[in-house]
Amino acid sequence: MKKSHIIGILILAIIIANIVGYCEMTDAESGTDVYLTLVNKTHSLPENWEELVQIDTVFNSLDEENRIEHKTYEQFKLLRSELIENGVHIELDSVYRTVEEQQAIWDEWSNDPELGEEYCRKYLAVPGHSEHHTGLAVDIFIIKNGEEIRENDDMIADTKDFAKIHELLPKYGFILRYPEGKEDITGYAYEPWHLRYVDSVEIATEITNQGLTLEEYLNQT
Ligand code: DAL
Ligand code: ZN
Repeated sequence: MKKSHIIGILILAIIIANIVGYCEMTDAESGTDVYLTLVNKTHSLPENWEELVQIDTVFNSLDEENRIEHKTYEQFKLLRSELIENGVHIELDSVYRTVEEQQAIWDEWSNDPELGEEYCRKYLAVPGHSEHHTGLAVDIFIIKNGEEIRENDDMIADTKDFAKIHELLPKYGFILRYPEGKEDITGYAYEPWHLRYVDSVEIATEITNQGLTLEEYLNQT
């Protein structure tokens, strides 16, 4: 290959690298914060989501597999450690779910005579509109005296442990996503187990202390 061709290829490579770098920089500078992405009944998962976050495969202490966004898991581990020191053992129950997995849950629950469609509308997002598709939403359960507190009704009744859990959430960048009394705004019933990582102690503290939902904080519904 001629020397002039090699130089030409090198110049082209430098130009392409600069264009790619510029695009990444403008994306980061555009103010788009993936950790504040709103996914709810009116906002579906952004199309390019998989390119924006790193989803890791992890295991809880019962050796159950889950997928979870990288930073969400790092902070979850710290939250879990402090809670264990305070006498409350939380574990990952359900985190990242594909649209197909959400559909399978919807089909199962809606066909279950004890649950049905009405229960689904209160507690389950339609596929494509679940925050669980982001990997930032974490459903937890409690292990107490060797027993799992995992059923929705049992967790709602365990107000003492959940009070301790909710108090610590902002310190690790989490919020309670579906608070009691905000059903009209979130569109879902109270879910003490559903945490949402927002990657900011300041924002999580503001949302928590002011009793806001993510919709209210972002001023959207
Ligand atoms: N439980 C929440 C609403 C979901 O299914 O995403
Ligand atoms: Zn959930």
